[in-house]
Amino acid sequence: MNESAQSVIKKYKSLFSLSGKTALISGANSGIGKEIAKAFLLCGTNVIICSRTAGKDRSLNKFLSEIKQDNITSLCTESDFVPQVISIPCDITDEDSVNDLLEKITEKFSTIEILVNSAGINILEPACDYSINSFESVLDVNVKGMFLLSREVGRMFMIPQKYGRIVNISSVKGMIGASENYLAYCTSKGAVNMFTKQLACEWGKYGITCNAIAPTYVRTNINKDQLDDPEFRKYLVDRIPLCRIGKLEDISAAALYFSSDLASFVTGQVLCVDGGLTSRQ
Ligand SMILES: NC(=O)c1ccc[n+]([C@@H]2O[C@H](COP(=O)([O-])OP(=O)(O)OC[C@H]3O[C@@H](n4cnc5c(N)ncnc54)[C@H](OP(=O)(O)O)[C@@H]3O)[C@@H](O)[C@H]2O)c1
Repeated sequence: MNESAQSVIKKYKSLFSLSGKTALISGANSGIGKEIAKAFLLCGTNVIICSRTAGKDRSLNKFLSEIKQDNITSLCTESDFVPQVISIPCDITDEDSVNDLLEKITEKFSTIEILVNSAGINILEPACDYSINSFESVLDVNVKGMFLLSREVGRMFMIPQKYGRIVNISSVKGMIGASENYLAYCTSKGAVNMFTKQLACEWGKYGITCNAIAPTYVRTNINKDQLDDPEFRKYLVDRIPLCRIGKLEDISAAALYFSSDLASFVTGQVLCVDGGLTSRQ
């Protein structure tokens, strides 16, 4: 059967479209999560930001006003849907705080189609001195927090509506070790990768995909002290085939892909956005 050019255009527009959807992003008041939030807003997607200090930073609201003022039409579709952004403080390691978040979301939005688990922390300590407190803190945010948010958003919205996109921000350190100080972080990101695969297997039948993005270094609050050391930066860049560290938009591009229907047959994957780092011995 021959498809007309018009119907092919329509098909691809709808595959690219994120307009009118609603995304919850943990850790979106800074770094990678914030860049993903900007990309969603430009695509006409409502954004809910959650983190412990969510609401203190108003720059995403300013960004949205600029979009509205300049009448910037949506990046991925011609729809004139105007998105909203709201910030809700939440500690994702605390079940009550997560329940409170979900309750507040239902006052404003009828559903969530996209969940991006970007909140994460790292505590650098050598393995033999790694404290139980530090180890638990890293696993609490990076793994338990992701689990709590995913379970609740799945139960409340994605499973009943038989549609959802879950995108977890993992790390190349979930696949390859670092020289030292990364015991809890590497352990947590390895867990994120298996969490992603298992949830993909369990929730595929509900039309929910679950994928992960594994970046190498991108300069954010989590690592700016390390990356501002020229010697350390050179050591990193020398090992990356594409000869640079990551940019925020490298990661948000992958998040847009996994969140859209371009990736509707892709689930359980961990995509390294790492300039080729993990391809090199
Ligand atoms: N930057 C990199 O090079 C890199 C590389 C690989 C992977 N990653 C991963 O990318 C993700 C984002 O990190 P980033 O680089 O963007 O660092 P970031 O700017 O420090 O962002 C981390 C976010 O997590 C939030 N957060 C921390 N604890 C939380 C909690 N208990 N409850 C809710 N939110 C919490 C923080 O907000 P509050 O302080 O307000 O809670 C912050 O917004 C992390 O999962 C990180 O492991 C980063």
